[in-house]
Amino acid sequence: MPKYRIALLPGDGIGNDVMEAARIVLDRIDLDAEYVDGDIGWEFWKKEGDPLPPRTIRLLKQTRCCLFGAITSKPKEEAAKELAPELQNKAHSYYSPIVRLRQEFNLRTNLRPCKAYSGNPLNYQDDIDIVVFRENTECLYAGVEFYPLPKELKEILLKLHPAMKRFAPIPEKDTALSCRIITKGASRAIVRDAFEYAKTYDYPHVTVVEKPNVIRETSGLFIREAREVAKDYPSIELREVNIDAACMWLLKNPLDFGVLATSNLFGDILSDLCAQLVGGLGFASSGNIGDRYAVFEPTHGSAPKYAGQHKVNPIAMILSAKLMLDWLGEKEKAAAVEKAVAKVINNGKVRTYDMGGSSSTTEVARAVAEAL
Ligand code: NAI
Ligand code: MG
Repeated sequence: MPKYRIALLPGDGIGNDVMEAARIVLDRIDLDAEYVDGDIGWEFWKKEGDPLPPRTIRLLKQTRCCLFGAITSKPKEEAAKELAPELQNKAHSYYSPIVRLRQEFNLRTNLRPCKAYSGNPLNYQDDIDIVVFRENTECLYAGVEFYPLPKELKEILLKLHPAMKRFAPIPEKDTALSCRIITKGASRAIVRDAFEYAKTYDYPHVTVVEKPNVIRETSGLFIREAREVAKDYPSIELREVNIDAACMWLLKNPLDFGVLATSNLFGDILSDLCAQLVGGLGFASSGNIGDRYAVFEPTHGSAPKYAGQHKVNPIAMILSAKLMLDWLGEKEKAAAVEKAVAKVINNGKVRTYDMGGSSSTTEVARAVAEAL
């Protein structure tokens, strides 16, 4: 029996193009693995009224980890319209399958490395090497939201908090509320993952990005927990920067940053900013990591206008496979894949359109495989 059973969920649009590319690279490194394909995405929403059918969850539960491409999602009304006729008006409602995966498998850590590979014409600056640790399950993405604001809730808030008074005269139907929930456990866990990473890969500091001077309770709690965790790593400096200032400093002095740790929304924003510093969506890989399971994916979406054209950059996907190899403990193979990607980028002969070239997705994957 192979050592690993790995689920491949290509999903929609270019998810398929880049998954094929990743397979070319994975097949070259001879990982002792069996790959099993699973269903996810828009096609299954339309046909079955469920973008992440239960059989896919069952399949994932029988695998070590998962490599995921991208999915298409559309706003509520459009989603409903595209359902198969026999499923119309049957109380199916669309949800994000990737958010569901993160919750179902408690994939609490979102790891997003942003490295400027030498010779990439899209680099904002050479030598950038930033890794964002984004808490993946709570904060403003916890899903606890209200519209209109329920009357009972408004009354309780008015009773409990003086700052609520200002909103008292505004009708409930004109007020929406999203709860930023931050817990000690999840904050500690993400900061600990960041410090462990810094320790393993020799980064001298971890920068915690929050806004405790204004968002006093939730950011305050996050920072206090970070300070506690930092005590266990006396040789790694804890730095604290506010989210707004961090965006400014990242553009001004990106080389001052290494490992970043932050909550969900700030991490979402920061990781897009950092990705753009090193070439944009075609280079942005990520891992959603829990205690027992992990899902690796490029951060880009399904880019419908390029679907099936084998035109987009597969590097984000190939680097996501590299993260998976790291997580599996296949450090040598992971390093080899990264080195091959770096070589192809630096060599400059085989490049997709975003890098100013005209090579296909498959040609880039083959070049990486050859460099291996
Ligand atoms: P997108 O990431 O799919 O594409 C935006 C643009 O970025 C593309 O048109 C293309 O110009 C460029 N791009 C993306 N990936 C690239 C690559 N590998 N190489 C070169 N260029 C690349 O974002 P968009 O257009 O906002 O969303 C399209 C669909 O994807 C939507 O349905 C959205 O909901 C979904 N989406 C899914 C995500 C996921 O599966 N995790 C994440 C983001 C969006
Ligand atoms: Mg995002």
